[in-house]
Amino acid sequence: MKRRDFIQTTCKCALLCASPVLLSTLQSCEDVEADSSSTDIIPPIDTPSDTTSTGGNDSGGDTTPFYAIDLSTADYQSLQTVGNSVATPSNTADPSGLILYRSSDTTVRAFSRYCTHAGGSVGSFVNGTARCSSHGAQFDTSGNVVGGPARSALKEYLTSLDGTLLKVFYAES
Ligand code: FES
Repeated sequence: MKRRDFIQTTCKCALLCASPVLLSTLQSCEDVEADSSSTDIIPPIDTPSDTTSTGGNDSGGDTTPFYAIDLSTADYQSLQTVGNSVATPSNTADPSGLILYRSSDTTVRAFSRYCTHAGGSVGSFVNGTARCSSHGAQFDTSGNVVGGPARSALKEYLTSLDGTLLKVFYAES
């Protein structure tokens, strides 16, 4: 057998042997396409957001997270009167808690209870002054230091008040 004849014969054999495999592969591809065309399209699911602690702010409509407090509940009812103050426990806005102060008919201010001296816990405003229980620093109703050893003001949060719904806006770290 000449070299040319040998190559021709070998190629024919190889082609005949491979044909069932090729046909089966092509058949499999057709099956997949046929199956995918009959698959139902599942529409995306809308997930409702948690409106108790996050949402857009009232001025810009963006998604600044907020901590919501209902001032009609027993713990916060006193904040419906101008001049009153409440200190909250730890919450999603501030792990040290908040000092809330009703400064006018339309505004409740919110400060962190975290003392700027050494991280002690600052209480609510009494006669216009909030006092740290650790070393006695004092802060006025704008959060400014009026008595050492603290040197810088309390952190203040933006708030909005709609009826009895108070929102304290905070930036997540
Ligand atoms: S930690 Fe508040 S006065 Fe020292």
